[in-house]
Amino acid sequence: MQILDGKALAAKIREKAAEDVASLKAKGITPSLAVVLIGDDPASHTYVKMKEKACEQTGIYSIVHKMPDDISLDKILETIEMMNKNPNINGILIQLPLPPHIDTQKVIQAVSPTKDVDGFHPFNMGKLVLDLEGFVPCTPLGVMRILKEYDIDPKGLNTCIVGASNIVGKPMMHLLLNKFATVDICHIHTKNLKEHTKKADLLIVGVGKENLITEEMVKEGAIVIDIGINKTSEGKITGDVDFEGVKSKCSYITPVPGGVGPMTIAMLLSNTIKAARKA
Ligand code: GUN
Repeated sequence: MQILDGKALAAKIREKAAEDVASLKAKGITPSLAVVLIGDDPASHTYVKMKEKACEQTGIYSIVHKMPDDISLDKILETIEMMNKNPNINGILIQLPLPPHIDTQKVIQAVSPTKDVDGFHPFNMGKLVLDLEGFVPCTPLGVMRILKEYDIDPKGLNTCIVGASNIVGKPMMHLLLNKFATVDICHIHTKNLKEHTKKADLLIVGVGKENLITEEMVKEGAIVIDIGINKTSEGKITGDVDFEGVKSKCSYITPVPGGVGPMTIAMLLSNTIKAARKA
């Protein structure tokens, strides 16, 4: 079994990103990211702090626009419009989830597709489906980058994705399909999950449920990618896969923490630099 070391790869990508930013700055371009953070969800605040810190270390200018939980949709849309028009802002990120009274799609669709570094806008999602150049959501993009780093070609692999969210499972499905994997996508209504996971040469799990995937659900020699981030009752960070039970059975596995998580942030930096180059 080999560990897929997302932490080490992310560090390498971030070093290269810092060099890219330095050369852009030498040409008078400072890549910049504006983050919209609504409400006081502790996890969202933690993620945004990590993103801010990563930008700072890379030389990317970042601003975080914080808004209260009871903010109106109109006020959010107004702020985004201001950011769309501001030539000094290259990337715009709306930290999700939004408060329940806000229509998330209206907010996502207000972001200019050219500044949509999260790749959540239907324009960029459509481009992904058609395998055209655009912004790709950071977490699935990070998974593809890990596979590439370890010379794992998805072509022809039986792939099972567990979790069909708009930000992870669905874009992941298209990225893999574009590389000619056979893709099976499972979700909350899937009957007999094990029947699906057990067939997978490449198993990708992003649900947010501790120990969802146990040893008997994994094919011998499978490649296992764990996108889950859960906090155990003892306060430890863990994924969706029972790592200890599964590790001896698979050929490759991502740890949590230190697997896909750091790659998400590294891909955000890459996407922001890409947006600055295009602008
Ligand atoms: N909330 C959970 N994951 C993400 C992400 O990748 N991007 C944003 N904007 N919000 C999130």
